[in-house]
Amino acid sequence: MIFSNILINWYLQNQRQLPWRKTKNPYFIWLSEIMLQQTRVAQGLAYYLKFTEEFPTVFDLAKAEESTVLKMWQGLGYYSRARNLHFSAKYIANELNGEFPTTYKEIIKLKGIGDYTASAIASICFNESTAVVDGNVYRVLSRYFGIATPINSTAGIKEFKTLAQSLLDKKQPGTFNQAIMDFGAMHCKPQNPLCTTCPFANSCIALEKKLTKDLPVKEKKIKVTKRYFNFIVIKTNSNKTILEERKGKGIWQGLYQFPLIETKKNSNQKEIISSEEFQNLFPNETTISLFNKKEIVHKLSHQHLYTQFWIVETNTVKEATISWKNIEDYPVPILIANFLEQYQLKSN
Ligand code: ADE
Repeated sequence: MIFSNILINWYLQNQRQLPWRKTKNPYFIWLSEIMLQQTRVAQGLAYYLKFTEEFPTVFDLAKAEESTVLKMWQGLGYYSRARNLHFSAKYIANELNGEFPTTYKEIIKLKGIGDYTASAIASICFNESTAVVDGNVYRVLSRYFGIATPINSTAGIKEFKTLAQSLLDKKQPGTFNQAIMDFGAMHCKPQNPLCTTCPFANSCIALEKKLTKDLPVKEKKIKVTKRYFNFIVIKTNSNKTILEERKGKGIWQGLYQFPLIETKKNSNQKEIISSEEFQNLFPNETTISLFNKKEIVHKLSHQHLYTQFWIVETNTVKEATISWKNIEDYPVPILIANFLEQYQLKSN
């Protein structure tokens, strides 16, 4: 049997029941595909349900404030995805009359949409023969065909796209694409793939040559930098604090955080108090205490953030205008959301 028939047979019996599988509305498919990049289906599902309830049409998303969109995205990470989604929703609503483009060529022009998302939307919603290549597809194809070209190299990206395109079932490209992703996620898993019950076991090169663990190959090229973050968590006697919006490029653009003092290495109380930033906030002597006795290491793809939260209970500070009881209205990085949960548990 040919590759696509085996795959689709497997899918018909094993596919996951997911809410976006019941629709071909490109707005919903777009949302789901953006959310599922770098996010597991189990985690993305709750966000998808919340988003579609709050923004049932592209016009609703276009009308929303960016901070509301970011707030709802909180925890999914890679916030530029949310900002681009919002940007493109406004473009579709205002410039295209709410009509989603219908071809790969047009879809890929939207901000935040690359080859993967354009292929997914074009195939699932408009039956266009465009193969998706995500992490699942790389894994399935590299193992089945025994291909060791690094999947993050220019040559690899081209090779796997061409191969996926050649295998695609041109009559049902959306089904094929979702089948190969589900097969990768559920059966040909990164660890402990289910080779003994695999419908491809007869012809899989990796299984035959015992290479399953070695494929796919990925080039190591990310350099991780360490950063040392000290958040100044203010609690005034009238229960106010300071949150600042992060501006400019870089991580967490548009999200809110406590005043931040970044240092070259882990700092102690004395160093924080004598820093210029702290002195600007509190020219008079103030006591501070460290909330987390051990630093929290928050890992982003290119940065590891060694984080300390410093609590300052103090008299009124004029910059402290945000009431603690409204703090949950602000979109914050998950690192800060986790802190708030811990802190509020302790103070209640
Ligand atoms: N991962 C991301 N999008 C998916 C889809 N449409 N089907 C299965 N897995 C996915």
